[in-house]
Amino acid sequence: MVISKYPPGPDRTVFHAILSTIRQQQDRLAYLIAINRTYGDIVHFHTGLRDIYLLVQPEYIHSVLVEQADKFYKTRPFKRALGKYLGQGLLVLDGDEHRRERRLAQPAFHHQRIEAYAAVMVSFTERLMARWRHGHTMDVAQEMMALTSSIVAKTLFDADVSHDAEVIGQSMATLQEATIIQFDPVRRLLTGLSPQQRRAENEAIRALDEIIFRIIDERRAAKIDKGDLLSMLLISAEADEQPSMQRVRDEVISLFLAGHETTANVLTWAWYLLALHPEVADKLHTEVASVLGGRAATAQDMAHLPYATMIIKETLRLYPSAWVITREAITEVEIGGYRLKAGSVAVISPYITHRHAAYYPDPLAFRPERFAAGAEQTLPRFAYFPFSGGPRVCIGQSFAMMEAVLILATIAQRFQLDLMPDQQIDIEPLITLRAKHGIRMTPVQLPNPVMA
Ligand code: HEM
Repeated sequence: MVISKYPPGPDRTVFHAILSTIRQQQDRLAYLIAINRTYGDIVHFHTGLRDIYLLVQPEYIHSVLVEQADKFYKTRPFKRALGKYLGQGLLVLDGDEHRRERRLAQPAFHHQRIEAYAAVMVSFTERLMARWRHGHTMDVAQEMMALTSSIVAKTLFDADVSHDAEVIGQSMATLQEATIIQFDPVRRLLTGLSPQQRRAENEAIRALDEIIFRIIDERRAAKIDKGDLLSMLLISAEADEQPSMQRVRDEVISLFLAGHETTANVLTWAWYLLALHPEVADKLHTEVASVLGGRAATAQDMAHLPYATMIIKETLRLYPSAWVITREAITEVEIGGYRLKAGSVAVISPYITHRHAAYYPDPLAFRPERFAAGAEQTLPRFAYFPFSGGPRVCIGQSFAMMEAVLILATIAQRFQLDLMPDQQIDIEPLITLRAKHGIRMTPVQLPNPVMA
């Protein structure tokens, strides 16, 4: 039964619409939490002329992502802004084109494939730690970004981007900032990007393209089928009537970007939380020492590192890298007894739902025990969904979990990371949830564990 035209929400006058748009852009997280607390678990508001619905209740989230998934597409502003640099890759495609690209990429994420990536994940982490010096401060956000970008390039495309880490990191930050400005209807109408921002955006796209086309050209020149994702994409493109390297480029860049930033962010926040909770860090060091006893971790160790896994899950609860998921209704839909017109936007935020006291007592407390064996199954479906769900569930979910746990365990085996005092740590909710100023930490070498 449809109960009223709109659910509760901030006033619907034009003045309030503009005010709420401005407030939203100033502090998106605080704004969404405030309207959830004030109006409830389904809230209606505007940005510009669009009807927006914030959906916090797991049932509604399930409805959009699973039950009625075919009635929703990615939003137009998202596709316009991201499409500028991702082109027509998995992240922005919809409908049949999306299904086709997803089928093409899927084999690279099968269980056995992912297990084979473990050796790269661990050896690249060891290579990174070899550069760290006891007591020498570094930015852990930058370190994690360099590590995960090298891992995704090596595992999916057999490419070495270790010398490009700085360019990739800077380009990513520039593109995310430019994208956010273009999501903001008021700023887009009034000013758009400044000439300087536009130049920076074009330069970032050019720099990333140079790296991606280098990877593609090297593989084409080698004329070898390595059986990895890049070879699969090339074989599929070359079988087309009109082979398009642009399509291959779009998929490579999409997987490369989706596949490193998110994991780097969760690891960054995990190190931060561990430094604030030494009792949790102690338990991690104990688990890692007893399971690995000084040897390199393997995919088979995943089953024996439950505490490390719980830490990553709890970090993803508090700091879900993909903090917001948006969808646009392509036809009229019903959610929670309300009728949403075609063109309405559903805003779903793991960040907001994961911090809801109805599902997590004392929600702001960092407690890995929330994810002890069996506990997750007691939560309502979609009260925890850092990887989304339904047909567009993160294709890299198992890859990411294994990578994050193995990196955490490999580093915790040798180092404790201490937080530098007197630094400002802020969350920056761009497309992903970044640490705005990075996080400066000092590696403290642990005594050598006894070999098992
Ligand atoms: C902790 C790390 C990660 C998190 C939290 C995460 C989260 C997500 C979420 C929430 C989505 C759905 C977005 C939406 O529907 O709007 C998504 C999609 C996606 N993710 Fe991940 N992801 C992670 C790691 C990875 C990795 C390692 C890869 C690849 C190696 C990857 C590749 C993708 C791709 C290609 C999509 C688009 C899938 C589609 O639309 O069919 N992600 N991810």
